[in-house]
Amino acid sequence: MNRSINLCVFLLACTATTLLMAETPSRSAEKLREWWWPPGDGRVFPAYVEYDNELGRLGIVNANGPIETAGHPFFEPLGTNGRACVSCHQPADGMSLSVASIRQIWEATNGTDPIFAPIDGMNCPNLPPGDPASHSLLLERGLFRIALPWPPIGDDGQPIEPEFTLEVVRDPTGCNTDPVYGIDGERREISVYRRPRPAANLRYVVSTRFGVSPFIGKTGMLAAVDPETGLPVNMNMMADAREPTLKTQAQSAARTHMEVAKPLTPEQLEKIREFELQLYAAQVYSNGAGRLDEPDGPSGLGPRALERGQDGVLGNNTTRYVIPMENKWANLPEGDTPEERERNAFRESVQRGHDVFFFRTFWIRDAMHINTVGLGNPAKRTCATCHGMHMTGMDTANGWMDLGTTNHPWALEPPEDPWAKKLPELPLFKITCREDLPPHPFYGRVIYTQDPGRALISGKCEDVGAIVMQQFRGLAARAPYFSNGSAATLRELVDFYDRRFNMRLTEQERIDLVNFLSVL
Ligand code: HEC
Ligand code: HEC
Repeated sequence: MNRSINLCVFLLACTATTLLMAETPSRSAEKLREWWWPPGDGRVFPAYVEYDNELGRLGIVNANGPIETAGHPFFEPLGTNGRACVSCHQPADGMSLSVASIRQIWEATNGTDPIFAPIDGMNCPNLPPGDPASHSLLLERGLFRIALPWPPIGDDGQPIEPEFTLEVVRDPTGCNTDPVYGIDGERREISVYRRPRPAANLRYVVSTRFGVSPFIGKTGMLAAVDPETGLPVNMNMMADAREPTLKTQAQSAARTHMEVAKPLTPEQLEKIREFELQLYAAQVYSNGAGRLDEPDGPSGLGPRALERGQDGVLGNNTTRYVIPMENKWANLPEGDTPEERERNAFRESVQRGHDVFFFRTFWIRDAMHINTVGLGNPAKRTCATCHGMHMTGMDTANGWMDLGTTNHPWALEPPEDPWAKKLPELPLFKITCREDLPPHPFYGRVIYTQDPGRALISGKCEDVGAIVMQQFRGLAARAPYFSNGSAATLRELVDFYDRRFNMRLTEQERIDLVNFLSVL
């Protein structure tokens, strides 16, 4: 087992070196230094780099050229707990952090790496550090603790009166009932547990290219604004859209995850923002489909496609696709050698998976902020209806929706939940919507949820369990999936949709969809 890394400044050089590389699906702890970026490492971040993952290789384009990471605020441990941004946004993991990496780093460092810092790398800071049980949500599901003020604080610094009451039904981490960290504790915080989201392709995530509406299309409320310009933002960042810009996000990441002693300077914030806006990550080689960035291949695959692509536009229509493939991998010749035959068969499967994603209709039902925006309930639509943004599969408008990943009955609980073994320790909250206001259109007045999502920020009943969609890129490098890590693999993700929307996918459709997602 060997994990190789491929540094190259020119794409041509890359293609040449890759041909010589053995297929090395898994990473080894001995080769840690080749793929893990510890804080303050000081290496140069090259203009282009590839990293192996289980399903192939991820490519990262650093469009403005090589970066000196020594002294760079994304890479330096700026806080008091030794972490840098890169600690949780690792290049090899598509600028997120896979549970496989977390476990390897646990083993390699005996649990002493700064990612395991008590503040949010433990189920609750009040637990004994170093005991795997204290870190189980991170080690099992890749989840960090996110502590948010409860009740929510509005942009004006004043508490928002929520439209509902919130009770802790189950508190397996002990954090939500703790005298210090609990909801009624000294800090008046609520703890939910979430996956790191990719810090790449962010040009798309924060795009305001065509101007952004001052209103939240889904609720009619005023959209958040960029505190520097006063202009509305698209509200597509973080699981609950609580951060309007990359700079406010970085400032709050430094305060919470990194426990900095003083706020980041304007220069540091600008440097982080600039770095993030020119970074592109996507799968570039697939063990099944081979090279994904061939000049005559599908135009939407590989990181260069993201570098070239247009942000802020819809891709779910007849003139522009979410992930353009131009039918390039349909009806391929059988191939002359066994390898070629296998590769072509896999490519055809990817193409079919794309078509399932884009064309295969099913009834989307009872999903807040999609069945309530004029499409009707139910609405016979496709995956691309929700995942419409060109190149990243996000929403071009404010991207939170209730898919059911955290709410009952879709996020099933023991003993009904066939996956209960994998969700042992998430908290459960009971939300009761106020009598004097309209109930939630699909759940009524009482909702059980593992993470109220956007409602923790807005205080609105209709936002309970609404989660902002993540981008679709680099999926192969960053399992598990969904904000609460509830799908361990792409297959589990696809099976969730089948169950949630009663899609009746055939086995072949499932395989094709997984193969499609695996090359993004
Ligand atoms: C301890 C791990 C950790 C550290 C350190 C960390 N992050 Fe994150 N990051 C996360 C998690 C977890 C989320 C998702 C939070 C949520 O959805 O509520 C996230 C989300 C993000 C996002 C949002 C991406 C999107 O599409 O929504 C960006 C951008 C980001 N982080 C950048 C940074 C920067 C810049 C730093 C350093 C200043 C940093 N992060 C430090 C864990 C971390
Ligand atoms: C009703 C709208 C809706 C539909 C339809 C929908 N999704 Fe999603 N999708 C979401 C939301 C919301 C999230 C974020 C949920 C979360 O993180 O808890 C998401 C997340 C994802 C992710 C990102 C996972 C990650 O962790 O990065 C993938 C991949 C995905 N969906 C694939 C699909 C596929 C494939 C289909 C069609 C079978 C589909 N989606 C249909 C709303 C939808």
